[in-house]
Amino acid sequence: MFIQALDVAIDAAHKAGSLIRDRFGQPKETEMKTPTDIVTQVDRDAEEIIVRTIQQAFPGHEFLGEEGHAPRQNAEHVWVVDPLDGTRNYTLGIPLFCVSIALTFRGHVVLGVIHDPERDETFSARLGGGTHLNGVKVQGCVRTPLDQAIVYAGFVPAQSPNNPELSMPMLARLRPSIAAMRNLGSVALGLAYVACGRIDLAYQDHLNPWDMCAGAVLVQEAGGVATDLHGEAVSLSSRSIAVALNSDFHKLVLEIAQDVSRARSAAAD
Ligand code: IPD
Ligand code: CA
Ligand code: CA
Repeated sequence: MFIQALDVAIDAAHKAGSLIRDRFGQPKETEMKTPTDIVTQVDRDAEEIIVRTIQQAFPGHEFLGEEGHAPRQNAEHVWVVDPLDGTRNYTLGIPLFCVSIALTFRGHVVLGVIHDPERDETFSARLGGGTHLNGVKVQGCVRTPLDQAIVYAGFVPAQSPNNPELSMPMLARLRPSIAAMRNLGSVALGLAYVACGRIDLAYQDHLNPWDMCAGAVLVQEAGGVATDLHGEAVSLSSRSIAVALNSDFHKLVLEIAQDVSRARSAAAD
């Protein structure tokens, strides 16, 4: 299932990736979508290339794209597109960014592609087909002990006073037990790195589905676990992510998220 769709998604990611790579390092006009959210013309052009490429193959499908595409309610096939994840890195000349594309069918994520144009690495997965890096199946679960684990903690640029992020207090709780923390400035790339075993655990809240749908299926198909921070399946309405190849690490991060939320509610009462 979805073999042709996966090929089309890879093609779309490569086309967008070429544009992103060609314009990397050139002066860019940046705009602030929100006080913390940066966007460039490259983000918008890359989304157009992806949507056009997929529409040619699947004219009836719909899109949820960070740069403006929205599906009709109850659409069966919805492509979830982050044309450039890591825009801030991109504008600063930091070569850590990617294209992230997922397909959902009746709300469930069925395939995902994350493409890093700078390293020419394409991570791909479809339900039941395993996860591949440049066409080679990834190895799956490696039993790293927790004290050797590398954890990707994603942060939100600004704190919302009514809904503060969980990442920082969660990291404070995890820090004594793990080996090191990473933040690549591209959460989708971080999820892909978990899928191929470079990073052991990743989490972040205050996200959007385009940041995480592709990464979630990559991790699941590599034999790992991917849910939101409440333990719910990743879907078009997810706002947070927790992924690990090792299910014990995933369980631990959910427990910590729950503890931090409970302590916060108790302090507010
Ligand atoms: C952002 C990046 C960043 C994460 C933010 C995302 P964008 O996506 O993934 O690492 O911390 O929450 O919004 O704006 O570069 O596509
Ligand atoms: Ca993003
Ligand atoms: Ca983006």
